Formats: sequence, structure tokens, C-alpha cells
Amino acid sequence: MKILTSPSETQTHCRARRAEGKQIGLVPTMGFLHEGHLSLVRGARTDSDFVVVSIFVNPTQFGPSEDFGSYPRDFEQDRRLLVVEGVDLIFAPTVEEMYPPGSVTAVEVAGQLTKGLCGASRPSHFYGVTTVVSKLFNIVSPHRAYFGQKDAQQLAVIQRMVADLNFDIEIVPMPTVRESDGLAMSSRNRYLSPEARRAATVLYRSLQLAKERIEDGERTSAKIIDAMRELIEREKPARIDYIELVDTNRLEPQELVHGEMLIALAVFVGQTRLIDNLRMRVPD
Ligand code: PAJ
Repeated sequence: MKILTSPSETQTHCRARRAEGKQIGLVPTMGFLHEGHLSLVRGARTDSDFVVVSIFVNPTQFGPSEDFGSYPRDFEQDRRLLVVEGVDLIFAPTVEEMYPPGSVTAVEVAGQLTKGLCGASRPSHFYGVTTVVSKLFNIVSPHRAYFGQKDAQQLAVIQRMVADLNFDIEIVPMPTVRESDGLAMSSRNRYLSPEARRAATVLYRSLQLAKERIEDGERTSAKIIDAMRELIEREKPARIDYIELVDTNRLEPQELVHGEMLIALAVFVGQTRLIDNLRMRVPD
């Protein structure tokens, strides 16, 4: 397994693999890898001849009061995990290599896709994500790139960007990997105190409750959201950021749920902001 930090060396290396006719799969990450990330890596390994995992805690997607400085990092552990998965190349640039002095260009997906849900409380987040992912796409030139449905809005934004900017890359969505009690795996789960860790299962429980209500015939979003809110508010350390029922592609709120839709929420558990979602197909 090769490890490179220089964007230009990585570009040269990946171009050479492409010229040999190799199918390249890219898994963009911010490191501190868990089974959720590794499921993406396994998907890429199955589909590709040459698997690239990027590890880069991207400063431009963190707000000024967010956790860029304290975001968990453990490159040695990540490296060990990726060797086991048979990864070919880790691309792990420094901030200066990704954003050299003078770099001022950004990629922005406009409109509701980035304004709603997480975009409302993290206004510059998706512009940071789309900028860094565009750079990774140009550096690695993958045939396929793997993204988790855990970050459903990020996935929808990237799909829009790839369509709008004619990136010749297949975006492969991968299902959310959960702990045995339902909590979606996340690098940020390590911030949770034991009490907050127990309370954090309420995100998944509230999604299950919403699913049951919809399966029992409830269609009014406000009622479903009220039931979720009531369940979440019973947990002391939990504070709701948003709960929304939206259509899967445009992420527009639905007053009455229908078709391919997403139940999405963000909740602060203690100081830690967690997100989760559930996709449903609601029969008319
Ligand atoms: P990060 O949070 O490290 O996640 C990297 C990828 O792993 C994303 O596609 C994310 O959706 C996926 N992932 C995280 N937890 C998962 C889980 N429990 N199950 C399945 N997939 C999961 O998302 C980012 O980094 C960054 O925004 C990035 C795209 C790398 C751009 O900086």
C-alpha cells in the first residue's frame, strides 16, 4: 500500500494506473475510520482494480465555532485498517498541500439542496465539501466514488454537483452501518460521555417510531415530527437541531409524506451534534 501526500504526485500516479486500463475506486474520508468507512472501502475493493482512500480533515467544511481543531485523528490506526482491506493508495495531504497560499476558488451547489437540513445550521459546510470533493475527483480521476447514505444530504449534493459539472464519475451510495443498538457509526461518537452514548440511541429509535407511524397509515408530516420530538425530548442530554420529512432527491419538505422520501434529523446529545436518516418509499 502506497501513501502519498502530494496532490500532483497522486495525480500522476493515478493517471498512470488509468492509462494501464485499471478501474479506479475512490473513498473520500476524514479518517478516524470505523466500520461505516470500511464498508465503503469494501465496496470499492469489490468493484475496482485500484482503490484510493483519501484521509483529509478538511478545514473549509467546518464552521468557525466547530470542531476542526479537536476532530479525532489517528493516522497509524487508519493505515493499519486500510492495509487489511487491501487498499492500494492512501492520499493524505496536509492543509497547505490542498489549499496552498493564494488558493481562492470554490465549488458551490446553490439552492434548497444546500440551504435546508444541515445547511440551515451549518451555512458554509457544503461549499467546503463540494470544493474538496471536486479537488479529490480531479486529483484521483476515479471511475467510481463511494459515499455513505448516513450523510444523505451530502450524497444528494455530490450527485447534483457531478451532474451539473459533467464529472465522468459514478457515485455509488452505500447503506448506513450501525452499532448493535442502532446508533449510526460516526467518528464523532467518540465525543459522547457514557450517559450521552446511551441517550444517543434516541435518534434511531425516533426514526423507527416515524417509520411505524407511516406504516400504520399516518401521512401528516407535522404529526410524525411531533411524535419524534416527544420521544427525543424525554432524553435529558438531547436537544433537537432539526427533524424534517423531505423528498429524497430535491430535499424539499413534504407536508404529506409520499413517494421516495427521507426522514432526517440532527440532534445535539450533550455537546455533540449527531445526524441520522431513514429512507422510505411511501405508497400513495
Ligand atoms: P467522513 O465523515 O469521514 O465520512 C466519509 C464517508 O463515510 C462519507 O461518505 C460518509 O457518508 C461515510 N460514512 C460515515 N459514517 C458512515 C456509516 N455509519 N455508514 C456508512 N457510511 C458512513 O463525509 C466526510 O467524511 C467528508 O465530508 C468528505 C466527503 C470526506 C469530504 O471532506
